[in-house]
Amino acid sequence: MRFDVFTLFPEVFYPYLDLSILARARQRGLAEVHVHNIRDWATDKHHVVDDEPYGGGGGMVMKPEPIFAAVEGVLGRPPAAPVILLTPQGRPFSHAVAAELAQYPHLALLCGRYEGVDERVRQHLVSDEISIGDYVLTGGELAALVVLDAVVRLLPGVLGDPDAPHKDSHAMGLLEYPHYTRPAVFRGWEVPAVLRSGDHGRIARWRREQALRRTWERRPDLLARADLTAEERALIARWEAEAR
Ligand code: ADE
Repeated sequence: MRFDVFTLFPEVFYPYLDLSILARARQRGLAEVHVHNIRDWATDKHHVVDDEPYGGGGGMVMKPEPIFAAVEGVLGRPPAAPVILLTPQGRPFSHAVAAELAQYPHLALLCGRYEGVDERVRQHLVSDEISIGDYVLTGGELAALVVLDAVVRLLPGVLGDPDAPHKDSHAMGLLEYPHYTRPAVFRGWEVPAVLRSGDHGRIARWRREQALRRTWERRPDLLARADLTAEERALIARWEAEAR
């Protein structure tokens, strides 16, 4: 899968993309990331990329010409891939959106800065808008990295265990069960005996119940959409009765 990232701060990306799983995915050709500096497409002497808003008010707005020139210069006119604008006004990012984006062979990620981008970029260049949460960052760069990271780890072959993405907490619609590793006792705190029992059926049931319990305690909103058995629904009803 190929990504083209358009930003005023290209130096943000490689320190992260050069680490661990993302670096390996790129080395193995599973993901290809090209980062482009929008300023390189500004044609005036000072490479100006922003200007004051029409109608007044504070802040600066990213000018349309360098953004169109950058995206169309790399991807053609019209762009040969979906162009996603990272913005707090976008649709909320989630596991489901990451899985949807992972189906594309090629995506462009456009990072806004300042008060935002000229509306004509949204109307005539961008095909999708994504927000990573209900807060405002100083720019779309971290959001683009979040999207890149979440999508690349879903691509076939990126994770060692091919089933790993399907077992992710949010893929199952539940939060994850607790994880433990050696030592069996640390500062007197023991790993639950069931995990050391070697009984894989019991371990699987314990993990499922822990995942349910955690989701019920922390994110009850997820339970409404989760795929649960009648027995699991009954267990939750019991917890609810006990809590009253
Ligand atoms: N740019 C600024 N804030 C953002 C957010 N919450 N999500 C995506 N892009 C952003």
